[in-house]
Amino acid sequence: MPRLSVWFIRASLLYLAAGFTLGALMLANKGLRLEPFIWRLLPTHIEVLLVGWIVQLAMGVAYWILPRFQSSRGNTRAAWLAFVLLNCGVLLAVAAIVLDVPAGATLAGRLLQASAVAAFAVNAWPRVKPVGV
Ligand code: HEM
Repeated sequence: MPRLSVWFIRASLLYLAAGFTLGALMLANKGLRLEPFIWRLLPTHIEVLLVGWIVQLAMGVAYWILPRFQSSRGNTRAAWLAFVLLNCGVLLAVAAIVLDVPAGATLAGRLLQASAVAAFAVNAWPRVKPVGV
């Protein structure tokens, strides 16, 4: 497995642990009515699991498994950039939710995430091709 896939997949597993913990807390709170504040974790739960876990895992596995050119995985800088942008985007969006900062920070986080997708596409697009072409 390439080093970048290791980083993508390990990071996604950390988000999985965090997201499930938040989900479990919310579930417990539903039954036990522990603390009203816990409901405010829902947007973080969604952000961490949908982008941090699912999107990141997909990118890590795709980078590893898409067809290569001889032994090269194409534009590796673009793929590394995608990793950095995606994680900065998730962390910024989560910080914006948790710290209750102005909406601009959430937007900036989303823009970083969208840029990560674009950077990842730069790497992946030429690699998506039929066998032997
Ligand atoms: C990949 C895994 C998961 C994803 C993508 C995910 C995503 C979501 C999303 C999108 C919502 C909002 C649903 C809505 O507003 O209608 C939600 C709500 C919730 N999730 Fe998760 N979730 C995941 C796993 C879990 C797990 C493992 C738990 C518990 C251990 C959990 C507990 C909850 C709870 C308690 C809510 C609030 C439900 C309510 O509104 O009553 N989630 N989740």
